[in-house]
Amino acid sequence: MKVLLIGSGGREDALAHALARSPRLTQLFAAPGNPGIAKVATCVALDVADHAAVVAFCRLMGVEFVVVGPEGPLVAGIVDDLAAAGIAAFGPSKLAARLEGSKGFTKDICAKYDIPTAAYGRFGDLASARAYLGRVGAPIVVKADGLAAGKGVTVAMTLEEAEAALADCFGGAFGTAGAEVVIEAFLDGEEASFFALCDGETALAFASAQDHKRVGDGDTGPNTGGMGAYSPAPVMTPEMSERVMAEIVRPTVQAMIAEGCPFTGVFFAGLMIGADGPQLIEYNTRFGDPETQVMLERLDGDLLDLLLATARGTLAEKTVRLSPDTALTVVMAANGYPGSVEKGSEIRGIEKAEALPGVTVFHAGTRADGGRILANGGRVLNVTARGASVSEAQARAYAGVAAIDWPQGFCRRDIGWRAVAREKDA
Ligand code: AMP
Ligand code: GLY
Repeated sequence: MKVLLIGSGGREDALAHALARSPRLTQLFAAPGNPGIAKVATCVALDVADHAAVVAFCRLMGVEFVVVGPEGPLVAGIVDDLAAAGIAAFGPSKLAARLEGSKGFTKDICAKYDIPTAAYGRFGDLASARAYLGRVGAPIVVKADGLAAGKGVTVAMTLEEAEAALADCFGGAFGTAGAEVVIEAFLDGEEASFFALCDGETALAFASAQDHKRVGDGDTGPNTGGMGAYSPAPVMTPEMSERVMAEIVRPTVQAMIAEGCPFTGVFFAGLMIGADGPQLIEYNTRFGDPETQVMLERLDGDLLDLLLATARGTLAEKTVRLSPDTALTVVMAANGYPGSVEKGSEIRGIEKAEALPGVTVFHAGTRADGGRILANGGRVLNVTARGASVSEAQARAYAGVAAIDWPQGFCRRDIGWRAVAREKDA
């Protein structure tokens, strides 16, 4: 089967390598792809915002299945347009992608169908939002409603911070994404990410992971797209995973059916595991980046087969087989990230890192220039390793980082700290 993968990040590099392992795959295309993806796929310069061009490419090349990596094309309805052209795709419809595209939509679904989440209010103007803030007080969380590249959320410990966040949203700091605001109660506990495939009716647990969103060691500094991750998340025991499926994921599947927009694709549930059990922070409706890089390192089965079953409605016949190993990834970012960065510096030593035991380097923001690899974005490489324990995976990943020669880049030095501390206590 010929497959087209949409995207260009480390997530897509990991997806490309896992798809390439499938015996069902005959040819993989990627649009636009990157130099890591190019090792296993033919990269094509398609404008993925032009859905008619994507459909025309699939017809021309005989592509039967499209895997969509990022949320942008999903929210723009690419899966609907492919389906209308008779081309199967992995990912939700535009209506179902509202679970990621609108925080307010998701909160309303949770309220209507009794899915555990923080108490909240939705506001379209500053005055009513401020009045609500005055009633509920701090700590409190202020969120731009729409997609804001992970930057639209402020966890405010004081009323002043919350007021400033409201002023940003309604002042246009997040464009139209901030024209509506969700204010919600602060949840205490340990965060985890949980992924489940869903074919519209059947949901199948995939894997758990823990991300490190802050840029600095010890979880300090501004939020980023993610500076590293590991899988599994120790807090997601088999019992907790089953609670999440029973209390959050399966009720969402039924809710989406009842709302007339059944969900197909992957639920990426951001969870807070507190004293009373799991609560939903948010849904994303695509694989996480960098969570995918570590989850797929542990997948022992055929990814293409699972994604096809998701699109075709046959997940009930499938199982997900994961290695009990831990996988851990360290994001190497360009100096200055998440602020502005310089592009074009040369990265050396990727092959040296990959020659180390258990180490894989995924490309996130790179570009090839002849035989050289140059930095071409904020998050640039994902140095990923497997190990029998978190400590082992962490040591291997940082050995990989040490092999890379890139003075213009940096990484966090403590990815996995929480899980490593747990291992040491055990
Ligand atoms: P989100 O983009 O909704 O995932 O939010 C970004 C981050 O803000 C999350 O990963 C949490 O660390 C934090 N966060 C969001 N909502 C809450 C909440 N209700 N209580 C505590 N922390 C939150
Ligand atoms: N790592 C968080 C995300 O993919 O949104």
